[in-house]
Amino acid sequence: MSRWLTFLYIILLCGRSKSWSAREVIHQLNHDQRLQLNIYLDCNDVELQIGQEVANLLVNSTEEQKKLLGRFSSHSLIIACFKNSTRNRTLNGVKELLWGLQYLPMLFVVESNMDSYFQQALSQGFLHVLALNLSNGSLYTYKPYPKVEIHKIEDMKKFYKLTKLRNLQGQVVRTSVETMTPRCFRYRNRNGELVYAGYMYRMVKEFIEKYNGTEEHVFDEVDTIPYKEGLKALINGEIDMMPRIIHDLEWCYFYRSHILYNIKTYIMVPWAEPLPKSLYFIKPFRSTVWITIMVSFVYASIVIWWIRYRQLGNSSLSRSFMDVLELFFQLPVNKIWHFTMGTQQVISFIVLFIVGFMLTNLYTAQLSSYLTTGLFKSQINTFDDLFREKRRLLVESFDAEVLRNMTKSKIIQKEFQSIILVTSIEEVFKHRKSLNTSYAYEAYEDRIAFELSQQRYLRVPIFKTLEEVYDQRPVFVALRHGLPYVELFNNYLRRIYESGIWIKLQEDSFLEGIASGEISFRISQSREIKIFDKEFYFFAYILLGMGWCASTIAFLLERWRFKYSVANILQER
Ligand SMILES: *[C@@H]1O[C@H](CO)[C@@H](O)[C@H](O)[C@H]1NC(C)=O
Ligand SMILES: *[C@@H]1O[C@H](CO)[C@@H](O)[C@H](O)[C@H]1NC(C)=O
Ligand SMILES: *[C@@H]1O[C@H](CO)[C@@H](O)[C@H](O)[C@H]1NC(C)=O
Ligand SMILES: *[C@@H]1O[C@H](CO)[C@@H](O)[C@H](O)[C@H]1NC(C)=O
Ligand SMILES: *[C@@H]1O[C@H](CO)[C@@H](O)[C@H](O)[C@H]1NC(C)=O
Ligand SMILES: *[C@@H]1O[C@H](CO)[C@@H](O)[C@H](O)[C@H]1NC(C)=O
Ligand SMILES: *[C@@H]1O[C@H](CO)[C@@H](O)[C@H](O)[C@H]1NC(C)=O
Ligand SMILES: *[C@@H]1O[C@H](CO)[C@@H](O)[C@H](O)[C@H]1NC(C)=O
Repeated sequence: MSRWLTFLYIILLCGRSKSWSAREVIHQLNHDQRLQLNIYLDCNDVELQIGQEVANLLVNSTEEQKKLLGRFSSHSLIIACFKNSTRNRTLNGVKELLWGLQYLPMLFVVESNMDSYFQQALSQGFLHVLALNLSNGSLYTYKPYPKVEIHKIEDMKKFYKLTKLRNLQGQVVRTSVETMTPRCFRYRNRNGELVYAGYMYRMVKEFIEKYNGTEEHVFDEVDTIPYKEGLKALINGEIDMMPRIIHDLEWCYFYRSHILYNIKTYIMVPWAEPLPKSLYFIKPFRSTVWITIMVSFVYASIVIWWIRYRQLGNSSLSRSFMDVLELFFQLPVNKIWHFTMGTQQVISFIVLFIVGFMLTNLYTAQLSSYLTTGLFKSQINTFDDLFREKRRLLVESFDAEVLRNMTKSKIIQKEFQSIILVTSIEEVFKHRKSLNTSYAYEAYEDRIAFELSQQRYLRVPIFKTLEEVYDQRPVFVALRHGLPYVELFNNYLRRIYESGIWIKLQEDSFLEGIASGEISFRISQSREIKIFDKEFYFFAYILLGMGWCASTIAFLLERWRFKYSVANILQER
């Protein structure tokens, strides 16, 4: 009999659903998730029996909220008590308090219809929400997709399982698709189909596909969304994710995903112009060397002339000069410099021959190395070179504002202000993509690498990147405030990055750049060094021509003088 009674009792116990008290729920959550903080919002006049197992924080939504993020431990439980009259205010209070932490567990203590609470919670992006009916102790949670579905909770394990989001069930994810190579761009392939590409776009698309969302494009027609419009769309919740690198502006516009790394901004400048080839002849020695050589010519000629004069009584200056010239330039020596001619002659021979040997060999070695590498005007290597050469830095208006702010806060040199040329973003894109050497450009390193891959097969590049870092910004994905799957996305993003898929996607975007025609490899043009052409010999021939002219004049002069003197002699007779 007693057995029967026990059996009956058990059946009754199971039939009755479990009744929860707030204390019990809070305790269980604290224990299971090892929480460190309980935040009570608007619960001052509700009987909750606040326990002391973890730190408690009592907040009133009428007062302005400090943001929780970064100030408290994020191992927190939010307990919000809703009353009919102040319901929207309390919900707003939770949002204000948390900002980006909408994935924290929450307990709503409610007194009216559950449905609308969960609907509102979803629109704010709160996923791990429990709602407790205090009057009979029933506890509920919800599944968000495909539509809000309320589940009664008997066991906390069910709550963890239900609210673990793994499938978006076809939920629409709106992304912007604008042309921001190589992060996102579009093109028509050979079959005339519109293809979207770019590594950030592929990453977002992969997320949507993996978690069974539905991709939807906003600003489909727009090539580049103006910053202001993009921010407005984000704040209005028209865009869920933005596959582009966006400046970390104020919190109010968007919520940002995990930061993956800091990307650097560099400046690309045109490669130095090649020197006219006729100048190659004088370039092996600097001007001081040339002057030294000339001076030593004159000196040696005079000294040799003087020595001969002392020895022989007569000597010709021009003959000494010709001798020195022969020795210096290793021309075939038409006279016997021999020991029989005296020690002075031998010593001057040895000195001049050795110096001449070294000079001519140095010269030819230098000249041939220049002919191989080519000679260029001085390169721009630093920001200071850029200012000195007064290169125009082409920027669009937003970048100009960023630059202004940076110079104002003394992050970079203020001389940048004087070299920028502000124009529209389309104009900047056009000139930068076509590698127009009229300007210098700044861009994030990924884009610079993308644009400059066009000159991969050139022997002499068109542009070079300055090594100095111009700016640095964090890389993240801009997300709509109150996006419910932020946590899912962040985990995904981190895995993509840590597994190296991110780098793979970046490399793929290069291939897609080639397929789309965004990258068109340049072929070498006149900038390449053709060594032996007409121009190269100009200098030599001009020198030769000048020499001939001078000698003709000298000849005519001498001839005239001779005639004159002969005439004089004849007259005297
Ligand atoms: C509490 O009331 C709801 C309906 O208002 C009911 O569905 C639920 O079973 C009740 N829970 C308990 C423990 O009585
Ligand atoms: C919040 O503060 C206001 C005034 O500061 C007070 O009237 C109100 O009762 C408080 N609300 C709660 C839930 O304590
Ligand atoms: C609360 O917000 C919802 C939708 O956000 C709105 O329909 C409702 O009228 C608001 N209630 C009050 C009391 O403001
Ligand atoms: C809470 O439970 C009471 C008693 O069962 C019920 O009357 C009330 O409708 C429930 N409230 C909600 C929001 O479900
Ligand atoms: C709250 O409002 C709902 C209707 O929205 C109503 O059914 C319920 O009785 C109200 N509760 C209180 C305590 O006023
Ligand atoms: C993906 O979402 C659709 C709804 O759009 C649903 O019918 C389908 O079952 C989901 N697929 C998976 C694998 O969950
Ligand atoms: C530049 O500074 C001004 C004032 O400090 C600020 O309002 C503006 O948002 C800044 N602009 C950018 C692009 O950071
Ligand atoms: C480069 O820019 C200058 C100045 O805007 C322009 O005159 C020139 O046509 C451009 N060159 C090319 C190849 O687009």
